[in-house]
Amino acid sequence: MYFSTTAATFALFSLFTVSLAQTFTSCNPMNSTTCPADTALGVANYTIDFTQSMMTDTVWNATAGSVTYGDDGADFTINVRGDAPTVQTNFYIFFGQVEVWLKTAKGQGIVSSIVLESDDLDEVDWEWIGGNDSYVQTNYFGKGNTTSFDRAAWYPVDDPQGGFHNYTVDWTAEKLEWFIDGQSIRVLNYSDANGGKNFPQTPCNVRLGIWAGGDPANANGTIEWAGGETNYNDSPYTMTVKKVRVTDASRGTEYVYGDETGSYTSIKVLNDTTPIKLDGEDSTSAAKTIKQKWNGLPQTTKYIIIGVVGGVLLIVASVFAFCCIRQRRAGKHERLIEDAKYEKNAAEVLAYRADMTKMRFDKSKGPSVHVSPIIGNGGAAFQNYGQTQPMMGGMRSPAPQYGHGHNVNPFGGARGYQKF
Ligand SMILES: *[C@@H]1O[C@H](CO)[C@@H](O)[C@H](O)[C@H]1NC(C)=O
Ligand SMILES: *[C@@H]1O[C@H](CO)[C@@H](O)[C@H](O)[C@H]1NC(C)=O
Ligand SMILES: *[C@@H]1O[C@H](CO)[C@@H](O)[C@H](O)[C@H]1NC(C)=O
Ligand SMILES: *[C@@H]1O[C@H](CO)[C@@H](O)[C@H](O)[C@H]1NC(C)=O
Ligand SMILES: *[C@@H]1O[C@H](CO)[C@@H](O)[C@H](O)[C@H]1NC(C)=O
Ligand SMILES: *[C@@H]1O[C@H](CO)[C@@H](O)[C@H](O)[C@H]1NC(C)=O
Ligand SMILES: *[C@@H]1O[C@H](CO)[C@@H](O)[C@H](O)[C@H]1NC(C)=O
Ligand SMILES: *[C@@H]1O[C@H](CO)[C@@H](O)[C@H](O)[C@H]1NC(C)=O
Ligand SMILES: *[C@@H]1O[C@H](CO)[C@@H](O)[C@H](O)[C@H]1NC(C)=O
Repeated sequence: MYFSTTAATFALFSLFTVSLAQTFTSCNPMNSTTCPADTALGVANYTIDFTQSMMTDTVWNATAGSVTYGDDGADFTINVRGDAPTVQTNFYIFFGQVEVWLKTAKGQGIVSSIVLESDDLDEVDWEWIGGNDSYVQTNYFGKGNTTSFDRAAWYPVDDPQGGFHNYTVDWTAEKLEWFIDGQSIRVLNYSDANGGKNFPQTPCNVRLGIWAGGDPANANGTIEWAGGETNYNDSPYTMTVKKVRVTDASRGTEYVYGDETGSYTSIKVLNDTTPIKLDGEDSTSAAKTIKQKWNGLPQTTKYIIIGVVGGVLLIVASVFAFCCIRQRRAGKHERLIEDAKYEKNAAEVLAYRADMTKMRFDKSKGPSVHVSPIIGNGGAAFQNYGQTQPMMGGMRSPAPQYGHGHNVNPFGGARGYQKF
């Protein structure tokens, strides 16, 4: 298991660098020239809005747990101990921008994170601690070198758990720059990262995830860094990602390490393979539930739809009312006729009675007459054919995964970039 490199800077790294080395022997391009190529993003600009689209397996790999979709986007939720939903892109970028709109998770010891990670362990981080609703930690690593304590830096953010913010990293060969809502908060120049040696400079994929740094089984340093032990009784803890935009400055279709230096100058940009098939706005989006589609619609579109549906209902209602009134009118008319008939009948009856009375008088007997007046049709009764149940499916989470309660830095644990 490999912890967040940040966490690893604390107590545990002697133990974990050992397992890390063992874990990554097979295809760290620093040690091997036969690692498979990294699939590149292939387009200059990839955007996915999780209120409208879901991740597809082609583009995103859920390396731990599963993501669900709610009103605000993709939810990464810790329900029970061992949960640590995490995804990473199957594509890599070789410099570029990564913009993520997210709302971080509350909860002591809960870590929300955005990570750029390369095959030789260059890393760029955003990390939020659930017990701290006013700061974000930025960090970086070169070649998995965790021997320094001066890389992490905290910056204020206004209520990251309460609202969405635009967290963007702009990454070139010269510098790394972190932005919050368009404000530059940190610049790392190449030369300032140990003369470039610790500067992230190899193709990275993008990872989003939540994990319990405060899990009681974690090392003390990790728990301390995460702000204390996690109390699972207060779950769920949810990080919500609304939107991701990634640009790839190199625009290749594959990136290959040309040697074992891990230097950006050694990376070969190939452009001869088919680019990855993207999801999201730039291509066919994955199927979504009606509810998600509805939620994803712009407000004005919703108003238009409400207006149109409302208008149709109004027309239906008007037609109905018109028919009904007509029928009533017709009914009234009929009734008048019937009343007239009745009156006529009654008159006739009276006359008849008079005759009968006269006859009874004459013959001492008479009939009993019952007249049923015909009541006019008061209008067709409105038939309500069942409920108008809106088809709002709502795709809810599958059963939470019960798992290993032990350490869980999915970014490390899964390390999907290993290519054996
Ligand atoms: C891979 O290379 C790095 C850097 O040269 C080194 O620190 C690490 O021990 C190597 N890992 C293995 C398994 O050889
Ligand atoms: C990226 O693409 C999105 C959607 O296709 C578009 O709205 C946005 O303007 C583009 N951004 C850049 C920098 O090209
Ligand atoms: C949040 O983190 C910042 C930076 O480490 C620290 O100054 C602040 O006191 C923390 N706030 C809370 C509530 O822990
Ligand atoms: C790791 O980083 C430290 C601090 O920046 C540096 O002194 C050391 O030389 C680095 N190690 C390697 C192998 O680059
Ligand atoms: C997010 O911030 C980045 C960096 O400042 C900026 O380029 C981008 O346009 C912002 N996104 C939106 C949607 O405003
Ligand atoms: C980074 O380099 C630029 C010039 O390339 C310089 O103006 C800037 O001050 C440097 N930033 C830091 C934090 O040293
Ligand atoms: C962690 O801290 C607890 C209490 O402070 C202590 O009992 C335990 O031995 C520590 N564990 C490690 C691995 O340092
Ligand atoms: C790769 O090919 C695409 C499409 O022809 C082009 O837009 C892009 O600039 C090329 N990339 C490189 C690195 O040459
Ligand atoms: C997704 O990640 C898992 C675990 O890291 C890995 O075994 C699998 O090969 C990955 N799938 C793809 C398509 O990369």
